[in-house]
Amino acid sequence: MTQKDHKADDLNHILDRVEQMMKDGTLELLPMAEQGATEDLTPGGFDHLEPAGVAQMQIDPEAGRRIHGKPEPRVHIETFGCQMNEHDSEIMYGILAQMGYVKAQGPDDADLLLFNTCAVRESAVEHAFGRIGQLKPLKYTNPDLIIGVCGCVPQVEGQVERIKRMFPYLDLIFGTHNIHRLPELVERARSERETVVDVWESMGDDFPDILPAAREGDLKAWVTIMYGCDKHCTYCIVPTTRGKERSRPYEVILAEVQELARQGFKEITLLGQNVNAYGKDLYGRHGEGAFDFGDLIELIDRNSPGIERIRFTTNHPKDFTRKMVEQIARAEKVCEWFHLPVQSGSDSVLRRMKRSYNRKQYLRLVGWIRELIPDAVITTDIIVGFPGETEEEFQETLSLVEEVQYDAAFMFMYSERAGTPAAQMEDRLSVPEKKERLQRLMEVQNRIARAKNEARVGKVYDILVEGLDKGKPDVVFGRTRGNILVTFPGDESLRGRIVPVRITRAGTWTLEGELVESPVTLA
Ligand code: 5AD
Ligand code: SF4
Repeated sequence: MTQKDHKADDLNHILDRVEQMMKDGTLELLPMAEQGATEDLTPGGFDHLEPAGVAQMQIDPEAGRRIHGKPEPRVHIETFGCQMNEHDSEIMYGILAQMGYVKAQGPDDADLLLFNTCAVRESAVEHAFGRIGQLKPLKYTNPDLIIGVCGCVPQVEGQVERIKRMFPYLDLIFGTHNIHRLPELVERARSERETVVDVWESMGDDFPDILPAAREGDLKAWVTIMYGCDKHCTYCIVPTTRGKERSRPYEVILAEVQELARQGFKEITLLGQNVNAYGKDLYGRHGEGAFDFGDLIELIDRNSPGIERIRFTTNHPKDFTRKMVEQIARAEKVCEWFHLPVQSGSDSVLRRMKRSYNRKQYLRLVGWIRELIPDAVITTDIIVGFPGETEEEFQETLSLVEEVQYDAAFMFMYSERAGTPAAQMEDRLSVPEKKERLQRLMEVQNRIARAKNEARVGKVYDILVEGLDKGKPDVVFGRTRGNILVTFPGDESLRGRIVPVRITRAGTWTLEGELVESPVTLA
C-alpha cells in the first residue's frame, strides 16, 4: 500500500470499525434518559443587544410547531470537542428555543437530535461515529425523529460522503459555517426525502454579528470574540473545519458581556481558536486605529460591572506580546490563568509543525508572565510522536516541561489528519512508540502538577462556588482564579458566591479545602 492510500484510509478504518460494530451489535445499547422535567430553553444574549448597524437573526417562533406538527417539540444535542463546539451547541439551542423548541430529557424523547462533531483527532471522530451508530434504533421507535450531524467532521473533505454511506438514515448534514441557517435546514430536512447536505467552505457575509444562545448554567458563560484560525500548523485540521480568522466587532462583544452581567453571570471566558490574534482582520495589525486582544481585555475589564472574573482561551504563543501580558496584569478581573499550548520542546519539531516560535521565544513569554504575574497558573497542550520525532527531540519536550513547571497539561499522541501537511511527512511513529512516550511525559507532568498542588496546602484562595459536588449534599465545588478545581464542605447557599477557602489536601488535578470564616489575606 502506498503512503497516499494509507492516508485516504485514515478515516475509512474508523468508519469500517464502527460499521462492523453496528452489524455485530457490539455497540453499547442506548441508555434511557433520566426521568425529570423537560427543561425550557431560555434564549439569552439576544433581545437586549442592539448596538447600531449590527446584524441579528429573524426567527419565526412558530417554526418548530410547523415542522413537527406539535407545540413545544423537543431537541437534544450531543456535543464532542472543544469549547467552540460547546458554545456552538448553546447557540443552536438558542436558535431552536426561538423557534419554539424545548430541551429533551435525552436522545430518546427528542423530536430533533443533533450530533455536533469534532475532527481534531481520530479518537474524537471515532467517538462521535460510534454514538451516531448507537442511536440508530431511535429512528425505528420514532419515525418522525429528525437526526442531523453537524460541526467539524462534515467540514473535512470527503467526510460527507462517508457519513452518508455509513448512516443513510440521517436527515441532515451541515457544518460549522452555517449554524445560523438552522431554521431553514431543519425545515428542509422535514420536507425533503433525501438527506439534506449543506456544508459551506467559509463563513458567508450573512453571518449575523449576534446569535441567540441558550447557555448551560447561569454563572459562567462563553463569549466568542473571533472565529477560525490563520496559523496552519502542519498537524492541524482546524483551519479546514473552522476557516479563516474573523473577529467580532468589539462593541458587539462588550454589549454581549454587559447583557450577561445583567442576567447575573459572574464569569466570562473569551473564546477563539487564537484569541491573541483578535482584531487583526478588523482593525489592522499595528498603528493608528489598531485594536488588539490586550485592548479588548482592558475595555471589557473596565466596562463590565457585575462580572467578577474574565478568562480567555485558547492562545498561540506567537501572537502573545509583552504589551498584552502587561494589560492582563493590570486588568483586575482577568484571572491569573494562561493556557499556552507549546506542542513540543524541540526547535526542530516546532519547525516541522510550523509553529513559528522556538523554545527560547516561548520561554521568554513564560518569563514575562512569571515576572508580571508571579502567581499565574500556566497550562499547556503537548503532542508526542509527531512525524520524525526522535528520542532526543522528545527529551527536549521532557526538559521543557521540567523547566516551565506547568500546573497542568493536555497531552496527546499525534493523530494523522488527512489533508494536513504533516500527513505527507515521512517517519511516522508506531502507536506503541507514541503510547510509550505519552506515558513517560504524563509521569513527569503529573509529578510536577502534584508537587505544585501540594505547595498550595495551607494557602487561602478565592473560590467562585459553582454548586454541589456530584452526589454529595454537603460538599461544594468551585475554582480558583487560576482555574484549579477545589471541593470543600458547604451547602447550596454558597452557589454563585466568591469565598475564601484554605487548602487542606492536594491531588494531582484537584484540591480540597475548608471555608475560612474570618477575614484573611488571600493568597
Ligand atoms: N494530533 C494530536 N493532537 C492534536 N491537536 C491538534 N491537532 C492534533 C493532531 N493532529 C492538539 C493540539 C491542540 C489541541 C487542541 O489538540 O495539542 O493544541
Ligand atoms: Fe474539534 Fe478543532 Fe472543531 Fe474544536 S475546532 S471541535 S477541537 S476540530
